[in-house]
Amino acid sequence: MNKKAEELKKEILRLTREYSTLLHQPNLPASKQQLPFVPGETTIPYAGRVFDADEVEAAVGSTLDFWLTLGKEGAAFEKELASFLGVKYSLLVNSGSSANLVALAALTTHKLPTHKRLQPGDEVITVAAGFPTTVAPIIQLGAVPVFLDNHPSTGNIDVALLEEAFSPGKTKVVMMAHALGNPFDLGTVLAFCRRHDLWLIEDNCDALGSTYSLPCEQAAALGITENSPGIPSNGKCITRYTGTWGDLSTQSFYPPHHLTMGEGGAVNIISRSPLKAYAESFRDWGRDCWCASGKDNTCNKRFEWQLGELPKGYDHKYIYSHLGFNLKPLDPQAAIGRQQLKKLPFFIEARKKNWEYLRVGLADLENFFEFSQPTHTTAWNKETGFTWDGSGCKTDCSWFGFMLRVKSSAPFSHTDLARHLDQKKIGNRMFFGGNLVRQPAFVQLKRDRPSAFRVVGQLSGADEIMSKALFLGTYPGLTRAMLDYEIGVIRSFCVPS
Ligand SMILES: Cc1ncc(COP(=O)(O)O)c(C=O)c1O
Repeated sequence: MNKKAEELKKEILRLTREYSTLLHQPNLPASKQQLPFVPGETTIPYAGRVFDADEVEAAVGSTLDFWLTLGKEGAAFEKELASFLGVKYSLLVNSGSSANLVALAALTTHKLPTHKRLQPGDEVITVAAGFPTTVAPIIQLGAVPVFLDNHPSTGNIDVALLEEAFSPGKTKVVMMAHALGNPFDLGTVLAFCRRHDLWLIEDNCDALGSTYSLPCEQAAALGITENSPGIPSNGKCITRYTGTWGDLSTQSFYPPHHLTMGEGGAVNIISRSPLKAYAESFRDWGRDCWCASGKDNTCNKRFEWQLGELPKGYDHKYIYSHLGFNLKPLDPQAAIGRQQLKKLPFFIEARKKNWEYLRVGLADLENFFEFSQPTHTTAWNKETGFTWDGSGCKTDCSWFGFMLRVKSSAPFSHTDLARHLDQKKIGNRMFFGGNLVRQPAFVQLKRDRPSAFRVVGQLSGADEIMSKALFLGTYPGLTRAMLDYEIGVIRSFCVPS
């Protein structure tokens, strides 16, 4: 870059920081916000972007470079994310939904042996309540979702009917989300996958930074022997981040999530490297070539391949081994993501603290609410914390939200509470699509094609979540004053003075 241009860029970035510091005060982490909170007047979002001048400078800097398409920032972010999680590769995509689509599409490749390849009509085990685009790719790729129930208190799969859902020769994949940051029962699900040689895709979109601990012997039996990077060993359990236990996992970087790049997401390839080439191919138009954008002939055989029925020597850059998509984000988005990643350990801690604060603050309202429980816990107590089940497995949640269910005996419904919170400007959400099979899209699908999906069991847990649950935010922008106000409003709604 010439000297004058370099000086100009420096000045633009200096001004950018100044501008951001002036303008983006409400987007700072709670501990740095200096704006007054006016109860009842200031809106409390359930989630949102938390950033400072670093992200804005990174976005502007990368935009000034004007490479635009995924480039050096993308490559660096992919490496940094993979190294944070301790997975082989991370591939950036333009959303969590795209990540789910690409991850599952990778398993449809003809390059896999037939018994491992997901083909039209094959089955994918999932759960009924959750976000629609965990499930939509299954149908979009011609496979059949098999819905199991959610445990109402964890939001996660009720593993009781896993074996019943299995269909020999047809079931190829288990794909589901860690609900609102709460890891699903990975010990049971992984053992099931190993027993039947199934792929596991963890939708980790809402759970970046959550950990799951499995007793060492059980983990070793599954071939898992190492903790995630930076997590010290306690000699009893293997502790790893969610999103690093299965074969593939996915992230969303849409603003309410743990990190944001505006729109964005990632597919994590946990250990088997060929999956990276398949996922990358589906992300990048279906191409066979693996050259990074702007590079040619990385394979050194650009004009020497003979694939399909193409003439020998046909340009490898334009050889397509899959019917792919183009789901890449932009480089300035990756530049933002890199700055966010540096703040991730702090974000995770803040989410945990906010959940705990709400739990303690609302503890005496147990006549009205059932509070969500981390998987493998059986109870919670203000003094002693969680009681664990006898499995030896533990979870530590990087919470996406604080979910509660309104008891049937309460004199109000969850919709009444949601309306009241709305009036009081307190952000709240239902558990995404609730029982998805009751959504118009799935009702229509069943009408059009009765074999489009299968349901195993009653889905009464998913229905309960749909009709009784809502969640409050736990994001790092929530100040103590906001959380206290939320607690106060809920308390006086339950017990009017
Ligand atoms: C569990 C889960 N999976 C996938 C997605 C989709 O992510 P995106 O909005 O980035 O497409 C979401 C969205 O919030 C989600 O909660």
